[in-house]
Amino acid sequence: MKKILAVETSCDDTAVAIVREDGFVVFNQVSNQDEIHQAYGGVVPELASRNHAYYLLPLIEQALKESNHTWMDIDELAVTNRPGLVGSLIVGLVTVKSLSLLLKKPYIAVNHIEGHILSPFLWDQDTPSVSLPFPFLSLIVSGGHTYLFEVKDFGQYYLISRTLDDAAGEVLDKIARSLGLGYPGGAQMDKISQSVSPGRYSFPKIKLKEKSLNFSFSGLKTSAIHLIQKMKPLENKELIPYICADFQSAVINQIIDRLDRAIQQSGLKSIAIAGGVSANSRLRKQALSWASRSNINLILPPLKYCTDNAAMIGFTGLKQLQKGIKSTQELNCYPHSLKEDFYLDPI
Ligand code: KG4
Ligand code: ZN
Repeated sequence: MKKILAVETSCDDTAVAIVREDGFVVFNQVSNQDEIHQAYGGVVPELASRNHAYYLLPLIEQALKESNHTWMDIDELAVTNRPGLVGSLIVGLVTVKSLSLLLKKPYIAVNHIEGHILSPFLWDQDTPSVSLPFPFLSLIVSGGHTYLFEVKDFGQYYLISRTLDDAAGEVLDKIARSLGLGYPGGAQMDKISQSVSPGRYSFPKIKLKEKSLNFSFSGLKTSAIHLIQKMKPLENKELIPYICADFQSAVINQIIDRLDRAIQQSGLKSIAIAGGVSANSRLRKQALSWASRSNINLILPPLKYCTDNAAMIGFTGLKQLQKGIKSTQELNCYPHSLKEDFYLDPI
């Protein structure tokens, strides 16, 4: 069975993985730069790319060594080339292009969001594989993106809806930042709100057209910022977990509401949720109880495959190489997806 070595450097995490054709993850490691960016309250692109240059090759060497593999055991290479921070993507792309030339192995450049879509197909020693027949709905909630797709097959992603403004992770990060919580904010907010129950503060329910499946989080963000400004200086730090719990709930309630509409409109019975925000403990709990009430087959990948990782890039690359698609040395990287990446509007 073929094996691929994959590299992901689209934002601030340097990630390397080795994945088998059937989705089995042989090696998966992420060097996060959280401590470096923490001081600035968000990712500093220049620092992110510099640190990729520092971490990447040693991590690739570690991948081979710890998995007892040599380059002879690796058939192909994969790398993220879009969307993301260009300075960060370049480090991964140029490294993988050079390895491809040197080792005379094919490489494929893939879309990071497609990686998240296919992350439910990953499995390993501790994670059994799941049954997820096509077609299914895929919600991608990450730091920069909120997309709902109908996935008809590998490579066939129909974009059903998206956020009209900010991404879910983006508003969680922004509010966490204005509350003085660390970076990355979404994870901190999750942690801090676990000790309290929501219900003290209310945030407006965003009204879109009755049948709309789109998301909108900027109204919630503005309302939270007003609340925080009124309370400034936030003398009563004990209130912070309550604000977090209610803000997080407002974001999650909107997500579940759209999923419910999408299931009803599409008639599909399977849904996967992936991307960093799907690591949120409250979202996972609420989504699981919604799915069991509504008789939905819900797939939530383990946390290590929800947040950024290279295993999802490897599996995506394998699927494309199986179809005979390869990338060339002239290929570039892009801050955005390409128009051929996703189809629009199936429903
Ligand atoms: O997919 P991802 O790792 O990177 C991007 O592609 O953007 O997602 C990062 C986002 C950040 O906004 C981060 O705050 C959020 O995922 N996140 C969480 C949690 N863990 C990461 N949000 C809520 N709860 C979490 N436990
Ligand atoms: Zn991501």
